[in-house]
Amino acid sequence: MKPFRYLLVALVMSVGISIQAKEFPVTFSEHIAPIVFNNCATCHRPNEAAPFSLMNYRDVQKRAELILTVVEDRFMPPWHATSKDFEFQDHRQLADSDIRLFETWVETGMAKGDLDKLPPMPEFTDGWQLGEPDLVVNMAEGYTLYAEGPDIYRNFVIPLNLEEDKWIQAIEFRPGKRSVVHHSLFYYDTSGEARARDAEDPIPGYKRMGRDREGGGIGGWAVGGIPKKLPEGLAYHLPKGSDLILSTHFHPSGKEETEVSTVGFYFSDEPPNQKFTGVQLPPVFGALAGVNIPAGDSNYTKHDSFVLPIDVKAFGVSSHAHYLGKSMNMTATLPNGEEREMLSITDWDFSWQEQYRYKDYIFLPAGTKLDASVTWDNSSDNINNPNDPPVPVKWGRESDDEMGSVTLQMVAANPDEFSKLRQAIQQHTGEASRKARGGRVARNGNQGRGALLKRMLEQFDKDEDGQLSPAERQAAREAFGR
Ligand code: HEC
Repeated sequence: MKPFRYLLVALVMSVGISIQAKEFPVTFSEHIAPIVFNNCATCHRPNEAAPFSLMNYRDVQKRAELILTVVEDRFMPPWHATSKDFEFQDHRQLADSDIRLFETWVETGMAKGDLDKLPPMPEFTDGWQLGEPDLVVNMAEGYTLYAEGPDIYRNFVIPLNLEEDKWIQAIEFRPGKRSVVHHSLFYYDTSGEARARDAEDPIPGYKRMGRDREGGGIGGWAVGGIPKKLPEGLAYHLPKGSDLILSTHFHPSGKEETEVSTVGFYFSDEPPNQKFTGVQLPPVFGALAGVNIPAGDSNYTKHDSFVLPIDVKAFGVSSHAHYLGKSMNMTATLPNGEEREMLSITDWDFSWQEQYRYKDYIFLPAGTKLDASVTWDNSSDNINNPNDPPVPVKWGRESDDEMGSVTLQMVAANPDEFSKLRQAIQQHTGEASRKARGGRVARNGNQGRGALLKRMLEQFDKDEDGQLSPAERQAAREAFGR
């Protein structure tokens, strides 16, 4: 009986397809091109992030099998954030019916169709995604990165020569060599210190891991990031006379490359009408959380929480981890006990570190508890694990170290209360730092120092040789604010 049943199923299926194909032939021109032009060609065109173009029949037909796999798996278009409760802007996801069309098109022989029915390619803004910037600057000299070696963090100073204060709505960063630039954080410096350091160092830029103390942060870019303006009425302050600092993380590609980054500023005409901030959990990208992931552990989690001292309106969320990152989430428990999902990422991918923006502001009343957790997979089942066999991994800035946090961006619902929010955030970071240092210890007592050193070794002695190398010490100092 069984073989007969299979035969029947097969017969019905093939009849089904041929009926569908007859009444509704799926063609490139009519059905596939609109999906590809609108959902793929944004990145899959020359000089954009994707490795090949998808702009015509031939481009798509020759990779059809691979394309089918990546759309069925929802690996493309890349999108990782979900929330049961809120919608995100610029959400990239194919409808189930689009995926069905791809399947039928491939199964029925990839017809080209009537060229007259081919939709026009959308008008992509070539180059600047947000239109012509108000100010464009670039690195004065190229920085040459070796073909192979450890990741490099380097800061580059770009004088802006502004004669008046400006308000930044967006910064668009265009790496010269997309294959080696992993991310870049933006700061401004009005002290001239960064310039002086750059001048001391014979090659372009200067060595510094992460944030410069003298500069204010004004955003950043990471692979896959799409520039966005801040919500209406919000802006970063950029004082006159500022130098721009690009704090760039390079990942060698196997080929020597020379990077010249270009940066476009979009200014607002009016000063912002209120301030915004981020609640990062755990703070300092997890530096104080005692991240120490055993080799082979596929489910290592850190958790942190924060109670909002005032009513806020959240507008964006982002998360960060390196190759071992597996999942992240943040929930908000309202004072009445109701829970809202702010972010859930179940398939973290190091390549797509996006700043997700909610469709609308989300009101969260004072007393709301934010809970965030980050989970890492340090087993060999994690195909992105840089170590085979796995080794223990601690917190650090190199890409084979780990970091982890979730950040919710918000404004005070009543702008007059903003400083209360900022104070509570500082207090939270201070507490995490004290806890990391082993409680309130006498600063100068021997016992205190011993406890502090022990804590520092536990967290930052990555090669476990019982002492802190200069780089490990630097990381510990930064994390502990010393
Ligand atoms: C936001 C930018 C972006 C969009 C939108 C996008 N891609 Fe991609 N795509 C990329 C990048 C970047 C890569 C290289 C990814 C990597 O190496 O991880 C890639 C890789 C691919 C690959 C190769 C995968 C592999 O395993 O080699 C295929 C096939 C692909 N994309 C198809 C599509 C299709 C089909 C769409 C639309 C339905 C699409 N992409 C939309 C950026 C994008």
